[in-house]
Amino acid sequence: MTTEKPDCTSILLGVSGGIAAYKSAEIVRLLKKRGFDVKVVLTENGARFIGAETLAALSGHQVYTEMFARSRSEYIGHIALSDWADMLLVAPATANIIGKFANGIADDLLSTVFLSCDCPVLIAPAMNVRMYSHRVVQENIEKLGRLGAAFVGPDTGELACGSSGRGRMSQPEAIVDEVASMAKHGKDLAGLSILVSAGPTREMIDPVRFISNRSTGKMGIAIARAAAARGAKVTLVAGPCAVELPSAVEVVNVTSAEQMRDAIIDALPKHQVLIMTAAVADYTPAQPLSQKIKKGESSLSLELVRTSDILVDVSELRAKDQVIIGFAAETENLLDNARKKLAAKGLDMIVANDVSRADSGFGVATIAATLLWPDGRQKEVPLSTKDELANAILSEVIALRTP
Ligand SMILES: Cc1cc2nc3c(=O)[nH]c(=O)nc-3n(C[C@H](O)[C@H](O)[C@H](O)COP(=O)(O)O)c2cc1C
Repeated sequence: MTTEKPDCTSILLGVSGGIAAYKSAEIVRLLKKRGFDVKVVLTENGARFIGAETLAALSGHQVYTEMFARSRSEYIGHIALSDWADMLLVAPATANIIGKFANGIADDLLSTVFLSCDCPVLIAPAMNVRMYSHRVVQENIEKLGRLGAAFVGPDTGELACGSSGRGRMSQPEAIVDEVASMAKHGKDLAGLSILVSAGPTREMIDPVRFISNRSTGKMGIAIARAAAARGAKVTLVAGPCAVELPSAVEVVNVTSAEQMRDAIIDALPKHQVLIMTAAVADYTPAQPLSQKIKKGESSLSLELVRTSDILVDVSELRAKDQVIIGFAAETENLLDNARKKLAAKGLDMIVANDVSRADSGFGVATIAATLLWPDGRQKEVPLSTKDELANAILSEVIALRTP
């Protein structure tokens, strides 16, 4: 597995006064683990939710809280902090701090540092659902986005205040993934629209039973998340996945192979790139029954018929300048089978992965793959996380689109 040292190494973490401030300790820990140097600016209200000592111990630096320090020796100005930072991450970001950023108010250290930063800014909002959906907050977020700030989350779910809805800060891992992606790739996919399929399909036998496969959707979701983090507009057509779907992308939920095909064909014209990771059923029951099959004494045979081949349909409908990437999950003759699929479906690239390995493929966090192109080139991606493979594939998308 690769642990790449990022070019951007100094992360200034702003922590403002919301319940989610307790998660900032985990963010510091994860950033440090990935090789970033971290300094923390804690607002006065943030300090009501998490102790500066905790953040100082985890970051290995003093925590900055005050605009005007008590003594000259304690003083480090906002300009020195913004000079130091390669990226400003604000997590959690309250409605208040977002409002100050959007309106040029600089009445404490964090809001003043924001105005004096010329580095990339990533904001992780966290607040009650009604606060988050308030027009003023939404307009502030939109304005900051227009001015170049990036946002991660918030997620939808149970909130600390007891209500539920959109407003929960993204998980520390997702925030740190976003930082790592911004540090490494910036927004190099901005302007691209990418359609990704993920997960298994379910083919109903009767109302309670179905035929499916071991795909969890992790690979496609990793691609969708990474593409969105790199600035692409992403649509994810998702079969019934076993993992949480990303909030930064448009999701079309489907169940069967036929629904997956229809959703992809429908969305295809609006996208420049299609990445098909879904494990779509090749066969479906010839006659799904409307009532549950009763247990009998004798054996039971099911007649299965072929589903339509989505990539063949796509290859007939695609525009010349669209990039189409497929996956070949095989248990034998991996490269031969992948090469045949690449040619038969007219793909621009195929990702071959051996799903018979215990450490690679369905359900596990890691994957080893070989990328193959129609001109005979091939490239190994050694055992990596699915996020790393996702980013490697997306970097090839850029190369494929470069004349
Ligand atoms: C218990 C409690 C929890 C709070 N949680 C949040 C929150 O999650 N998000 C938010 O925007 N404000 C929250 N607030 C309100 C902020 O603390 C308040 O707006 C404050 O002025 C923010 O200051 P700061 O942005 O300078 O840190 C909370 C207040 C209290 C008392």
